[in-house]
Amino acid sequence: MQRIVTAFAFSLVFMSCATMSTRDLASNEENGVNYPPDTFENGFVNIDVLEPIAFNRKKDPNKQKTVHPIMFQHDLDEAHKSQLKSFRPLMNFKSKEEFEKLKKAGRLGKGDLVKLPWLDKNIDVRDSVQAELLSKILQRYVYEGWFDQDRTENKTDLENQFRENSYRTWCHTPWLNITEKGREAIHGLTKEFPIRNTSVYHNVPEEIERGENAVTWGLAFFNQNVCQNYDTFFTEEHMIQQMRERKPVFDAGDGAVSFKLLFNTMPDWDKAMAGEWTGSGKNSEVKAYNWFAHVSHDRKDSIRHIANVAHVQMDIGLRDSRLIGTQDDLKNWVMTTFYFDPNYHNEFLDDMKIPEALRHMRPVGLQYGLDVGESIIFAGANNNHRPDGITELPYDKTRLNGPVDNIKSSCLGCHAASGMNFGLPVDKNNQVHPSAPGLGFLTKEDYLRYRKMANGGNYDFNMQLDKSMRNFSKSKDYKIKLPEIQK
Ligand code: HEC
Repeated sequence: MQRIVTAFAFSLVFMSCATMSTRDLASNEENGVNYPPDTFENGFVNIDVLEPIAFNRKKDPNKQKTVHPIMFQHDLDEAHKSQLKSFRPLMNFKSKEEFEKLKKAGRLGKGDLVKLPWLDKNIDVRDSVQAELLSKILQRYVYEGWFDQDRTENKTDLENQFRENSYRTWCHTPWLNITEKGREAIHGLTKEFPIRNTSVYHNVPEEIERGENAVTWGLAFFNQNVCQNYDTFFTEEHMIQQMRERKPVFDAGDGAVSFKLLFNTMPDWDKAMAGEWTGSGKNSEVKAYNWFAHVSHDRKDSIRHIANVAHVQMDIGLRDSRLIGTQDDLKNWVMTTFYFDPNYHNEFLDDMKIPEALRHMRPVGLQYGLDVGESIIFAGANNNHRPDGITELPYDKTRLNGPVDNIKSSCLGCHAASGMNFGLPVDKNNQVHPSAPGLGFLTKEDYLRYRKMANGGNYDFNMQLDKSMRNFSKSKDYKIKLPEIQK
């Protein structure tokens, strides 16, 4: 089997807490910092962990390091007292052959053996009724299997959910646990952007919006179609070659699914966002699904604390040419998103044993193209797309975008840029083309133009892959000098 190169492929040898450097933790507390800057020099080993772990990716005894918790002592004490568990990446990277073998032997989860549930419905993604059905099928698909192990009465032990799936294979992307935005210790969330008032959530307090101090953190999962391709992608040789040749290629094929749970760090969110993230009247018992995580809540500030974070958005991506109306130019990707709405109840999920809050995740719409009008917004839902930064487009001429996403972009528009910057020409200072796509594309024409410039390469709409390759190419051990391209 090929060796998967990951920044978390350190041997998971957990040592006793007694060896932990409590002095360092105490001095962190005095200085008020717990996330020192990531630099090439330290090789990006500022990894947020709950227990000290041996870091020996190189298997060279001289290079072994111990990674210690960066938490403040009182947070660490609280994590232990509350029995919060460490994040353990799901790394089910098995080759296609291994998958076939396991499948034959009946050793995969039941969900891996049955037909993909959207295939026999003859769905045309351009039809609003069928698009909404697809959204709900996908929501069900990503919720299945996470809650069976939870033996808590009424299934309220939220902290242990989405850690192991008994029904279907899911995996996480390597190389996202480094940098100040890297995975936090408890659920593996990575840092994203501050929340602001949008067409979806209106109650964000002004000082929080202005101060940009309620950022969102997210956790993404990929199904076996993607995990199988991760098996060959995340090998040292392949990753270096990708960087040197500046020809990004990743291809997950039909049936690839990714989903992301997004959590906002607004302090006392149940009070600040009462009525939007909590219910009222007959729904007063309902509140957003939530976790305790080790997060910073300010855009600029890197100090992490244990905080309760609210699940306010879920995103799903699906690539499948077998769906009617998907576009070959966009590799047949469709995207759909959901937000917490205490007054919405999804009957499609009634028979599922899932936490009540998740039944209130409202599907917003489905996007199948980059241009205006190639997104369907479902009746009763609010979208969040303002290409000029001010005006919400009418919903028959908009592009799908979630409540915590950048209002100027759209789901597919941003994801279409994945990997593309690695393929664009660089100048003699190794700077990539100045007009590289930042927030993505608002039209297909624009996207196709860049794709041509980038040698036709991309990472198949997978944004985490883009981010992980950025981390890889900058890390000390692998720092890759990109070739100069003559003009
Ligand atoms: C402005 C750019 C941008 C927009 C707009 C955007 N995304 Fe993403 N998306 C990202 C980035 C960057 C990541 C990786 C984040 C991370 O893991 O830290 C990501 C991750 C994801 C993932 C996990 C799989 C992957 O590709 O990494 C899914 C699924 C996803 N987004 C779906 C959506 C959907 C659905 C929408 C619209 C509602 C959307 N995104 C809007 C940039 C964007």
